Amino acid sequence: MDNIYITTAIPYVNGAPHIGHAMDYCLADTVARYYKMLGKNVRFQAGTDEHGNKIFLKAKELNEPVQEYVDKNAAKFQEFIHKLGVEYTDFVRTTDPDHERRCQEIWKKLENHIYKEKYEGWYCTGCERFVTEKECKENNGICSDHQKPYEKLSEENYYFRISDFKDQIREAISKDELLILPEFRKKEILKLLEDSPDVSISRPKSQLTWGVPVPDDDSQVMYVWIDALANYITILGYPEKEISEWWPAAAQIVGKDILRFHAIIWPAMLLGLGLPLPKRILSHGMVLSNGQKMSKSIGNVVDPLEVLNKHGLAAFRYFFLRHIDTFEDSDFTWEKFENAYNNELANDLGNLVQRLATLANKNGIKINEFNLELPEEYYSLMDNFEFSKAFDFVWEKVQDINAKIDEEKPWALAKNGETEKLENCMKGLILDLLIANKMLSPFLPEATEKIKAIFTDPIVPPEEPLFPKAK
Ligand code: MSP
Repeated sequence: MDNIYITTAIPYVNGAPHIGHAMDYCLADTVARYYKMLGKNVRFQAGTDEHGNKIFLKAKELNEPVQEYVDKNAAKFQEFIHKLGVEYTDFVRTTDPDHERRCQEIWKKLENHIYKEKYEGWYCTGCERFVTEKECKENNGICSDHQKPYEKLSEENYYFRISDFKDQIREAISKDELLILPEFRKKEILKLLEDSPDVSISRPKSQLTWGVPVPDDDSQVMYVWIDALANYITILGYPEKEISEWWPAAAQIVGKDILRFHAIIWPAMLLGLGLPLPKRILSHGMVLSNGQKMSKSIGNVVDPLEVLNKHGLAAFRYFFLRHIDTFEDSDFTWEKFENAYNNELANDLGNLVQRLATLANKNGIKINEFNLELPEEYYSLMDNFEFSKAFDFVWEKVQDINAKIDEEKPWALAKNGETEKLENCMKGLILDLLIANKMLSPFLPEATEKIKAIFTDPIVPPEEPLFPKAK
């Protein structure tokens, strides 16, 4: 299939972008660019989740009209995505009237699986999630992610009969028709699926007005997750447009904390609509700060713009795609970030480019068009979305080239007038560098473009270092 649809989770706009949000964007962009490198047509959705209690309460606390508040924050997210060099093709805002209307159509199509019943139970506004009695007890009534007591709800809601689809979902996940990466998360989801109850999918307007109205019932708005999950297909024009050109998605990128919504409720919605399930869900780990979850009260929240401004985009993407593990939680500290930039990006790669380009330029080395064949191992890691491992693999190659220069000493060959040997040696080294550069291109698009340009005829070393030390 040459058409590839990639999606990324849509963040809540109850504040400015957070360093963790960068993970979704950088990973999805890497997936998108990798597929483009393979010659696929890529459609890539991004967006903002603008409904729900959390956003409503925050706007109220700030005394701002909710729509104005979400407009302002949605713009910050768009700006952030651009700064990260993310090449998305579609941007969805869940307060967009087209999205809202399509959600209502989707609701109507699911009506056979929807019933009304009293909900007596718990809710966490931080997670925007209904919590089972069992989970509430296990956590002593306090949400471990938000450190706040669960709220007791007693209200009439609409329910979605997940039980109608459980067997089909279990089968698709077990057989990897819906592939959940990494494997250990797949196991968690299969376990969770065993006792996942029907889900409440609306809130009474008396409790929450900020949502998509339920069709033909003035007293209810949709539960924020129903409207949010639908974004992946409303942006393609569903239901009025035929979406089979793009749907099912080749890959949906989400954090581990929201995998359960994407691997249970979302597939149930799709099956209820008679649509195929996505091919893959990549569930990434969390970015921690100094070993802890970031929180305003601990005071360890890292501002992504500060990180971006420090050494630029390549440094940002380098750190988040290599040193933040694709699947496991990993730690951000300024020290690790600085070391990675100075010792690896600036020294290993930046100096290598400078050295090779200077030597080539001095000795009149020319290179013709190369056919850059990439190693099988790289493709295999990338195909399995093992991005941090693929990055490590490429970095070994970069270090090998550095070692080879020291070993083959092209400057000595030049000094001794061994022209032919020098030319072969330099061409070999440059070819190796261009292969590594191509492998890096989905991760570091801007920097690799610059490197590619440096090594086209005539080879001219950059006037400024590619990765300068901060002043
Ligand atoms: N609005 C929902 C997603 C709806 S998708 C149909 C939501 N928003 S969020 O703002 O809380 O999170 C957006 C994405 O950012 C999620 O994939 C989440 O996992 C990710 N992250 C938020 N904090 C994170 C870290 N500290 N580290 C890594 N990713 C994190 O959930």
